[in-house]
Amino acid sequence: MDKIIIEGGVPLKGTIEISGAKNAALPIIAATLLTEEKCVIKNVPALRDVFTMLKILRSLGVKAQMDGDRVTVEPKKYKRYIADYKFVSTMRASICVLGPLLAKMKQAKVSMPGGCVIGQRPVDLHLKGLRALGANIKIEHGYIVASAKKLRGKNIFLGGAYGSSVLATSNVLMSAVLAQGRTLIENAACEPEIIDLANFLIKMGAKIKGQGTPIVEIEGVKRLNGATYSVIPDRIETGTHILAAAITGGELSIKKARIDHLSALIDKLTQIGVKIKYSNNTIYVKGKASALKSMDITTLPYPGFPTDMQAQMMALSTVSDGISVLTEKIFPDRFMHVSELNRMGANIFLEGASAIVKGSKRLSGAPVMASDLRASAALILAGLVAKGKTEISRIYHLDRGYEKIEEKLMKVGAKIKRVKE
Ligand code: UD1
Repeated sequence: MDKIIIEGGVPLKGTIEISGAKNAALPIIAATLLTEEKCVIKNVPALRDVFTMLKILRSLGVKAQMDGDRVTVEPKKYKRYIADYKFVSTMRASICVLGPLLAKMKQAKVSMPGGCVIGQRPVDLHLKGLRALGANIKIEHGYIVASAKKLRGKNIFLGGAYGSSVLATSNVLMSAVLAQGRTLIENAACEPEIIDLANFLIKMGAKIKGQGTPIVEIEGVKRLNGATYSVIPDRIETGTHILAAAITGGELSIKKARIDHLSALIDKLTQIGVKIKYSNNTIYVKGKASALKSMDITTLPYPGFPTDMQAQMMALSTVSDGISVLTEKIFPDRFMHVSELNRMGANIFLEGASAIVKGSKRLSGAPVMASDLRASAALILAGLVAKGKTEISRIYHLDRGYEKIEEKLMKVGAKIKRVKE
């Protein structure tokens, strides 16, 4: 297993280029199952989760390959409809083949995803939406077994205890495009990745309106064609590099980025003293040599503050002035990074779904363990500013979501390396 070793304290300077969005690429690749024609998806990040999605497609009998940042899928007349536990257990997002398989094959058997370290991950909204379209769904031997003679458009309210759901919206959207008649998804997720998926489906011939708003209208069509499409930049990777500049008091130009997908983050950072400008798809970030101000963050569905940036923002708050409060409203147990940050000298305690952080002047490097994808990124940020050496183990989580992160950081001056354990 690989480890990342960081010698902290270097302000980062230079240019970083952002990769395509993992969370947009995964459902878009799954959506190719809706056609029999060839699809080409560009700007796809070379990440473990993407490779897993391609393996699922191949396991269904679909020709799927990746060359650089380009994925080519040739579904032809694939016959299989089972997404095995061995894939779903390593990547929860595998569930987004459920909607397309059901719509195209009229049956799907997808392993139930388990919980994960960031908390409970129920699938009730996925099932509610697909049942409303006419699917018959049972849970059998750990699998979601779905079938339908015909899918019919319906008005579906897709809200749960924690608001909208990104992948449930994706699944229902991908089924409704081939259903008979009109579907209205109310309380749909508004994330940019949903807009990207809808735009890809539209290129395939789907009729969709309202993507990016809580009400999405779909008029079903009989068939979809192949399409070529380029995925949006990864907003969470972008946000993480913005914080790398902010936490080290450095100065970075972040290219191929979309600032309009990061308003909640940019607003908070500007309030606490980070200087940010934007032109021609490049974000310019300038940190401060002295400590930033404290912050008050609550994660919410888009366009609120993203839960996928909470851990990284907490790393920044540990070296900010005064007391910060970070509240999780999407995954209330998503705080595995707290104890590791505390091992590095942070002063954080948990109160329900809130973390109270007393800013300290400096963190000190330590051996730490990554628990999940975004927690790994938070530990890297902490390591970049900590005094001395930080050794992060279990970084396989990182390879699920950040393309070449240590290479990108090394190019802008970070003393970071990957070693085999
Ligand atoms: C997606 C993202 C993930 C991000 C999350 C929230 C992908 C591949 N992953 O995950 O990185 O952290 O959105 O922005 O895009 N819920 C239910 N019932 C359901 C489904 C979800 O109650 O059937 C709850 C969840 O437990 C959570 C909330 O809804 O509290 C939001 O989760 P959801 O948007 O579904 O997350 P994912 O789509 O799995």
